[in-house]
Amino acid sequence: MTQLIRTRVTDMLKIDHPIVQGGMMWVAQPELVAAVSNGGGLGIMAALTFGDAKGLEKAIARTRQLTDRPFGVNLTFLPTLIPKDYGSLIDVIVGEGIPVVETAGQNPEPWLDRIKAGGALVIHKCTAIRHAKKAESIGCDIISIDGFECAGHPGEDDVTSLILTPLAASQLTVPVIASGGFADGRGLAAALALGAEGINMGTRFMATAESPIHPAVKQKLVEMNETETILLLRSLRNTERVWRNTLAERVASMEREGAGIEQLAPLISGKNGLRLLSEGELEAGLLPVGQSVGLISDIPAVAELIGRTVTQAHELLATRLPSLLA
Ligand SMILES: Cc1cc2nc3c(=O)[nH]c(=O)nc-3n(C[C@H](O)[C@H](O)[C@H](O)COP(=O)(O)O)c2cc1C
Repeated sequence: MTQLIRTRVTDMLKIDHPIVQGGMMWVAQPELVAAVSNGGGLGIMAALTFGDAKGLEKAIARTRQLTDRPFGVNLTFLPTLIPKDYGSLIDVIVGEGIPVVETAGQNPEPWLDRIKAGGALVIHKCTAIRHAKKAESIGCDIISIDGFECAGHPGEDDVTSLILTPLAASQLTVPVIASGGFADGRGLAAALALGAEGINMGTRFMATAESPIHPAVKQKLVEMNETETILLLRSLRNTERVWRNTLAERVASMEREGAGIEQLAPLISGKNGLRLLSEGELEAGLLPVGQSVGLISDIPAVAELIGRTVTQAHELLATRLPSLLA
């Protein structure tokens, strides 16, 4: 599909459409990543999904069999029970000549020189303007700003994309990608109006034909509405937005009763989440889901989703909105 919307983000990332698929643990695997890149967006694989450097190398090789377009790798720096060997993952990213790295979770400064030495552009994804400014000052190339609506970790400030996006756009010099709450062309047009130069979507890409998750989970995403997410782990200052299944409600109630990480860990473990995603056992674990799930009503192929998102945004910007001018 020809390019309809051109921004600094499309130029810098060498993509046709200003749509990025955020790194998603277990979900952002080669099939989905390649489908997004083939559709003209930027697919980003979640490095921690593949266990270690060898696993990441294999996933990159597999993705390259599926696409010759650029794709990125996400490095999430979050507190984990088992420390991760980020150095060896970065060696793979550099050695493989990966053009874009999405960092998230914490300040990427300790790793930035090593990542950039390989020539990669760094998109830092964060949830607060002060973190965005810091990331710009240390040399990140693009800032993805994740609003309170987002799936996964929205931070502790609870500020929505409608506020964060224009603030980031006006206070930063580098381009901004709006993230959290975006699922269609209306969202893309709105993000551009707010000053962003692209959108990042997570939840919406989970419910696509190429997403490597169990069909029962995709179907559940179609059925869920925007009120069915819940914030957990605020008591640990590691807030996470997930689907409000029975397990999530149990974790919330344990937190209210003062449970600590030792009691919560067996319930919130990533292994349980993987069982939910891969076996379709909907109560086995926690599932990161954003409020944008309320906007999802089908399971399209990724290329169709990207195509209709940019077409709808273009139509809004070119025809419908100008028609409102008095
Ligand atoms: C299942 C799932 C897993 C995710 N895992 C990660 C992750 O490992 N690292 C990360 O930076 N973001 C992660 N995210 C967040 C997304 O990359 C993205 O920032 C977020 O989904 C945007 O909000 P949206 O869901 O409203 O589109 C995850 C999101 C989902 C839905």
